[in-house]
Amino acid sequence: MKNISIYLTVFILFLTFVACQNENKKTNDPVEEKVQNLLSQMTLEEKLGQLVQTNYGGEPDNWKEQLVNGKIGSFLNLSGVEHANELQRIAVEESRLGIPLLIGRDVIHGFKTIFPIPLGMASAWSPEYAEGAMAIAAREASAYGINWTFAPMIDVTWDPRWGRIAETSGEDPYLTSVLGAAMVKGFQGEDPTEDGRIAACAKHFVGYGMSEAGRDYNTTYIPETKLRNVHLRPFKAAADAGCLTFMSAFNDLNGVPTSGNYYTLQTILRDEWNYNGMVVSDWASIEQQIIHGYTETPKDAALSSIVAGVDMEMASRTYDNLGELLAEGKITEELINERVANILRVKFKMGLFDNPYTDETYQNTRVLTNESLDYARKVARGSMVLLKNEEQTLPLKKSQKVALIGPLTNAPHDQMGTWVFDGDEKNSITPLTAFTEILGNKLNYAVGLEYSRDKSKAGFAAAIAAAKKSDVIVFIGGEESSLSGEANCRAVLNLPGIQDELLNELSKLGKPLVLVVMAGRPLGIGEQIAQADAVLYAWHPGTMAGPALTDLIFGDYSPSGKLPVTFVKGAGQIPLYYYHKNTGKPTDPNNMILIDDIPRNSKQLSLGFTSFHIDYGIDPLFPFGYGLTYTTFEYSDVTLSSNQLAMDGSIEATCTITNTGNCTADEIVQLYVRDLFGSITRPVKELKGFKKITLEPGESKVVSFTVSPNDLEFHNGEKYVIEPGKFHLWIAKDAASGEYEEFSLDSAI
Ligand code: GLC
Repeated sequence: MKNISIYLTVFILFLTFVACQNENKKTNDPVEEKVQNLLSQMTLEEKLGQLVQTNYGGEPDNWKEQLVNGKIGSFLNLSGVEHANELQRIAVEESRLGIPLLIGRDVIHGFKTIFPIPLGMASAWSPEYAEGAMAIAAREASAYGINWTFAPMIDVTWDPRWGRIAETSGEDPYLTSVLGAAMVKGFQGEDPTEDGRIAACAKHFVGYGMSEAGRDYNTTYIPETKLRNVHLRPFKAAADAGCLTFMSAFNDLNGVPTSGNYYTLQTILRDEWNYNGMVVSDWASIEQQIIHGYTETPKDAALSSIVAGVDMEMASRTYDNLGELLAEGKITEELINERVANILRVKFKMGLFDNPYTDETYQNTRVLTNESLDYARKVARGSMVLLKNEEQTLPLKKSQKVALIGPLTNAPHDQMGTWVFDGDEKNSITPLTAFTEILGNKLNYAVGLEYSRDKSKAGFAAAIAAAKKSDVIVFIGGEESSLSGEANCRAVLNLPGIQDELLNELSKLGKPLVLVVMAGRPLGIGEQIAQADAVLYAWHPGTMAGPALTDLIFGDYSPSGKLPVTFVKGAGQIPLYYYHKNTGKPTDPNNMILIDDIPRNSKQLSLGFTSFHIDYGIDPLFPFGYGLTYTTFEYSDVTLSSNQLAMDGSIEATCTITNTGNCTADEIVQLYVRDLFGSITRPVKELKGFKKITLEPGESKVVSFTVSPNDLEFHNGEKYVIEPGKFHLWIAKDAASGEYEEFSLDSAI
């Protein structure tokens, strides 16, 4: 008994010491002092006002009284620097405490200068581009009075049916983590008070990308191991990158809506990660807990979310019940203070108390500059992925007669992609404009189909005629932007409309056929790809789609993009991702009997007994990390500095890459590792690093990666572990290539 009391005393002393430390840390932090000082002056009504984010819809006068009384903490969907300044002025100069407003907007992949959709940008595998593009987006948005964006969207998904795959960085948690952190840095800079910076928002926390059936807002079931090893990783990277805000999501996660989920919002985000930023709900996602059937009334919904950890309510007003909940003793003022402090902390860190207003001349000098447009062209070039290039069909010569055909040849709105609130199609440079500029009268243009879903053959004859009098056909098809994005999910992954029929007619002409696809998702268009001699996947490339495309088509630059997501042959293969588990009966390509090879009257026990579809087999249309260039690269001499990795050491893995072709190009070299045995089953491969190199023809470079035990950490359902054992390592051009080297992680050495 005596021992226990000693231990208990020591434990209490320890807790007291920790609490003092934390208190000290807080009081020594100048921002914290300002937060606590302001909080101490606020009335309950003013505190509750900070928790409100309202959708801007009216004239400034509608809000005047609420702002003067400190009843609004933030607006969204407001644009126009004059309005922003007017609302800030009322809040700052006419309210009792002068607390500035957070003015939020969806600046997802550009503001006026539109960059490729995030899935396109991810195809460049470039943290530099991600940061640079978002820095331009921040500079342009801030010129319009916006000081907060609801980006980066860092949900991981395996489902191309989901419309919002367009907004993701693809299927891989490591790539999404690296690019998400870079985007946070682009928006916020090292110092968010710096001119031209805006607060970032890591969304949607968490697991939204697993919406069942790829149907938006659908339920998600994610076991702890998958939640930890896949979906939480990019959010931890964003938090570590200093992302000032998070956004909770629409989906219910294992039965608990993510906007009322204490485990994710408090236990993980706050307690484990010690995150002290702010959490905003998604649009009315607090109120939707009633529709989920998780809470009965708006008051219950407010209680659920305020306790779980949502600081600010977007668009709905359940938090108007917080006063009553406080009076009923269901929540404490300390809890309210915590929520308000998280919001005030962001406002102080953004420097809004010192600089709430925007210079109204910036909107004329900082937007759509030549530098920004040139950067958008560079990023769009880097985002396009060369999937096929038979007989070096590409690059084309500027002396050739080109038939330009297809519904996305001249679609200034659609080329910008989804989530473009402020981009203006009048600034888009389309492929038609760019091709015309280069080819002049050597261009034979016939749109063929007016838009991606067009079912009329009225344009076919002219298109075929244009093709007949040309040396080569360039068909630009795909999806209108409205076929992807929020709530725009597709169950079939084909080219919409009758694009396939027009392509079929064109392919009969015996001319070189180049297929360019603009889309918001990977499409299962194996047949159309087979009919083409060259295929360039351009995603929705943004404002500078045209010039970026002709830069590649005519060989001024070589394509360098690599797929950030597996391309399935058809929706029936979903989910299909490269870091799958081995299963107990892994696919044996030599023992895979496909549907047309099954003998008639064969007995049920005659097939391969391994994991595959008898119609599709097991291979994807294209693997994760895949992408061609105009040259060829040879990977050789993968070498490890040692085959034994000590728990406190590291090994260096190197590979020689040689440009064996005849043009300069970039190559994205990828590092994958497999953990052969673990306390839970482990993926057959996981991306652990990547590097982009540029090689002249004939040039070789040695690329090296350092692997340490921390890179091998995973969560086994109970805790994060690093387990000794055998590992395979690849340095390769994509997830389906290369030979492995083996190393072991030893606990002993
Ligand atoms: C939407 C989206 C979210 C967006 C928010 C504000 O419904 O889910 O990503 O930031 O509402 O527009």
